[in-house]
Amino acid sequence: MLEKELILTRSEIDRRVEELGREITRRYFGKDLVVVGVLKGAFVFLADLIRAIDLDIAVDFLQVASYGHGHVADGPIRIGKDIELAIGGKNVLIVEDILDTGHTLVKIRDFLADRRPRSIRSCVLIDKKERRQVDIVADYVGFVVEKGFLIGCGLDYGERYRHYPDVYSLTGL
Ligand code: IMP
Ligand code: MG
Repeated sequence: MLEKELILTRSEIDRRVEELGREITRRYFGKDLVVVGVLKGAFVFLADLIRAIDLDIAVDFLQVASYGHGHVADGPIRIGKDIELAIGGKNVLIVEDILDTGHTLVKIRDFLADRRPRSIRSCVLIDKKERRQVDIVADYVGFVVEKGFLIGCGLDYGERYRHYPDVYSLTGL
């Protein structure tokens, strides 16, 4: 039977997102910034985060094609939807829902870095340490969670639960 355990409450997430927004605002003050959300998971976190950033930003989205229910493992990246903005010479901030094995973020970073942005950094709502396979560190991390399959705040299980305001760990999968 599926059961869920509360991991992050909406108010904890709200507070942390405000802090991240302030840090990002300080770092990019007086500079251009293109925020690139990774669909679909990041759309909820991104919507909160950009409203906590007090800068003149541009927003775009990228979708990585996934293989069925699983996510991108090793092998070349397959882009489902590319960004539309030109990022050459711009500061880019990739926004992801969760860092798990790390393969997705490494590939997205390399894919966008080919276009010669001025800088490229990443912000993830959750850094899940347990299954990391590649050496990547996100520049901004909302929360570190050791393990578990998480849902809510954009995170899904078979496209369900993305709309939950809090984050839960699903057990009994
Ligand atoms: P990575 O390439 O293993 O880092 O995979 C990251 C992607 O896998 C995320 O963008 C999510 O779409 C998905 N993912 C990884 N862990 C979870 C989880 O706990 N819940 C929901 N989706 C997850
Ligand atoms: Mg995702």
